[in-house]
Amino acid sequence: MEQENLKELISKKEIQNKVKELGKQISEDYKGEEILAICVLKGSFVFTADLLREVTVPSTVEFLAVSSYGASTESSGIIRILKDLDCSIEGKHVVIVEDIIDTGLTLNYLMKTLSTRKPASLKVCTLLDKPERREVDMKADYVGFEIPDEFVIGYGLDFAEYYRNLPGVYIKSDE
Ligand code: XMP
Ligand code: MG
Repeated sequence: MEQENLKELISKKEIQNKVKELGKQISEDYKGEEILAICVLKGSFVFTADLLREVTVPSTVEFLAVSSYGASTESSGIIRILKDLDCSIEGKHVVIVEDIIDTGLTLNYLMKTLSTRKPASLKVCTLLDKPERREVDMKADYVGFEIPDEFVIGYGLDFAEYYRNLPGVYIKSDE
């Protein structure tokens, strides 16, 4: 990746291997069941697409959009559902698919909201985790990579809506 101010943190190959591993794990854990994957837009669209192609149990996918950041790179702590699910999750084995857990506020809110809708089970799979930044107690059931407290982009993650199409994960430096 020959782009200025971008430092590769996780390569395309490393992500591919990890996504395979996570897909295998989920397929084993839900053997004999089916899952409803909830893709949290926009950041997790790439991860969700790749992950579900590694999951061998029957699956459906639904999309939900939340906003916590506005145009800033810091969480405001105020979460809004911009687009809700189109279907009921009652009685379903739900897996929330996230790109990254940072403060944990978004997932904390989503878990609370979705658990009132009576799913059979509710788990979280995140590609990236920044544990240092946590403001609320929040642990994902499946974690791809723990990363340091740096703003990252690529593989679905954006800076001002750009860079989502980069195949790896990169640290964007300011200079
Ligand atoms: P919280 O703080 O609620 O944040 O756990 C989760 C959401 O914040 C976004 N986020 C990032 N987006 N690079 C990004 O492009 C980052 O380093 C980053 N950290 C948090 C992301 O949308 C995530 O779902
Ligand atoms: Mg997100």
